[in-house]
Amino acid sequence: MNNDKPKQELPVNPFEDQKTRISNRKYVRIGVHSGKGGVGKTFLSVNIAYSLADAGYRVGLLDADIDCPNVAKFLGIEGKIATKNQAMTMIEPVLSNGVKIISTALLNPQSEAPIIIRGPIKHNMLVNFLSSTNWGELDYLIIDLPPGTADVPLSAMQLSALDALILITTPTKEAILDTARAKNMAQKLGIQILGFVENMSGSIFGTKSAEIEKRLGIECLGSIELSLEIAQTNEQGEIAFLKIGSLREIREKIKQTIEKEKMKSNIS
Ligand SMILES: Nc1ncnc2c1ncn2[C@@H]1O[C@H](COP(=O)(O)OP(=O)(O)OP(=O)(O)O)[C@@H](O)[C@H]1O
Ligand SMILES: [Mg+2]
Repeated sequence: MNNDKPKQELPVNPFEDQKTRISNRKYVRIGVHSGKGGVGKTFLSVNIAYSLADAGYRVGLLDADIDCPNVAKFLGIEGKIATKNQAMTMIEPVLSNGVKIISTALLNPQSEAPIIIRGPIKHNMLVNFLSSTNWGELDYLIIDLPPGTADVPLSAMQLSALDALILITTPTKEAILDTARAKNMAQKLGIQILGFVENMSGSIFGTKSAEIEKRLGIECLGSIELSLEIAQTNEQGEIAFLKIGSLREIREKIKQTIEKEKMKSNIS
């Protein structure tokens, strides 16, 4: 009797050729994602990037929220501009406190000008950011993904732009549902998930990390409370993971999880 499980068929990938263009690199790419908007993806991406930089790693941060980019606002660096090299072939990321950052917000000084584009253009912007940014030597590239299971998250997964994903959800029923959708999408497309962060837990929304862990079947990397201190730290463009003592444990856990991922990969 043949007990082998049937192999999971991955959907046909229309971007095989572009995968080659962006696969030549020597750093680990970690995406931060959720199906739900507003749950703290940018907050977490920025905090992971600066925690890794603080630990001595060379870090890039790619804002993949192409039409509503927020990374620059979070860091208080809006107004800075990413330039092109002389041959106009490569984009120079903006260096901010040791982290190299690229975002559509850093291509246009008018921060309130709407970026009105359709999915295929977003896809091309992502490919360009991945393949034509002069990242130099990096250990890690953190990618702040927009919400949902279409457009940019789909492109990032189909392009194999990600070595792994960290998911984030609030302990609210609709966010958990959308995070389950994001998890199922990643698994369908063969992207590994390092775990999830429960954000905005506490007296208002409660804490459901154990329940979410069971439902999603992935590890909880830690819970972060909804707090005035975190909100104010974010508003001031500061890094909560480095400033707030109670976030030290989750910072370490995420750092160690990402370091393990680098050891597992064959990227030196
Ligand atoms: N634990 C927290 N306590 C207080 N405020 C928080 C916390 N986490 C995030 N915030 C705030 O919540 C808001 C939404 O966070 P953020 O922009 O990171 O979400 P997002 O998931 O990236 O949203 P989008 O889907 O629009 O990209 C921000 O103003 C952020 O400062
Ligand atoms: Mg965001």
